[in-house]
Amino acid sequence: MNLLLKDILNMAEVRFAQEGCLSPRLDAELLFYHMMDRDKSWLFLHYGDELDDKTCEEYFRLVDMRAGGMPLQYITGSQEFMGLPFRVNERVLIPRQDTELLVERALAILAGRKVPMGGFQILDLCCGSGAIAVSLAYHLKEAKKKTSITASDVSPEALGVAKANAQINGVFKQIRFVEGDLFAAFPKNRKGRGKQQFDLIVSNPPYIPTGVLPTLMREVRDHEPMLALDGGPDGLDFYIRILGEAYLHLAKDGVLLLEIGHDQGQVLPLLVEAAGAYGPAEVIKDLSGNDRLVIIKPTTGTDPARGTDTLAEK
Ligand SMILES: C[S@@+](CC[C@H](N)C(=O)[O-])C[C@H]1O[C@@H](n2cnc3c(N)ncnc32)[C@H](O)[C@@H]1O
Repeated sequence: MNLLLKDILNMAEVRFAQEGCLSPRLDAELLFYHMMDRDKSWLFLHYGDELDDKTCEEYFRLVDMRAGGMPLQYITGSQEFMGLPFRVNERVLIPRQDTELLVERALAILAGRKVPMGGFQILDLCCGSGAIAVSLAYHLKEAKKKTSITASDVSPEALGVAKANAQINGVFKQIRFVEGDLFAAFPKNRKGRGKQQFDLIVSNPPYIPTGVLPTLMREVRDHEPMLALDGGPDGLDFYIRILGEAYLHLAKDGVLLLEIGHDQGQVLPLLVEAAGAYGPAEVIKDLSGNDRLVIIKPTTGTDPARGTDTLAEK
């Protein structure tokens, strides 16, 4: 007996609700659109259609995957970010809406600045799917601001996804992709400063404390890469390492912009102060009122490691 489209959607919705999915109806519809390459207006017109067995079987295969905890984005292979399409798979974190705040703030910082002769130099550390680097490149290109972006990650698989996303969004030529452990792949001059100086360094590093990982939603815990989540025992390992080196790679008036966890807004300014190379950190809240970003600017004072004037040495 063939089923009607509305019946299989209702069945999927009930199953997803039983499994604790947060948006059961939406997920049921989005899976169907993905499978049939259709949209909501098509669904509206064909709601009462009878479906053949093969279509039902294929749909229920996808429903099983989603009900088993796989995020919808890994099934459809896509996620929108900053109004742009991004390809995703289980080797990269699914770009979060929260991270759009970092991109918006980065664009606002650069909007107030004159474009340097060689264009803005931007580094996206821990680039993952390329969500930040690609959307910055795209929106700065739209604004006709010459920009050169370096996107780096320790995972070659993530870099492969980031490259595909740069291609899909027409900004491949503006981005250089670098594989490496944080700043390890960025050479320094004899004075210990990075050979390339960046106007802006942005990063959304892993920041979940290791002990919290088992308590995350199963969608995240069982499917998103641990490499993208695990921030060490207190979630701060990457911030400490980034703060220890970023000032060496920042141009005069350069800015470091970091995404943080909602409960890290108190400790980050302390880490910034302890690093000894920066002015006071500015913590920015997201629309839900949670701490979400820190804006950090190096001081032109003393290099904490070497007791010398840092920015004068370039
Ligand atoms: C939280 S994800 C952020 C991905 C992307 N920037 C975003 O906002 O959606 C963190 C990324 O850091 C990368 N990563 C983990 N350890 C790293 C390291 N030691 N050096 C560079 N990248 C690292 C992971 O592979 C992952 O892609």
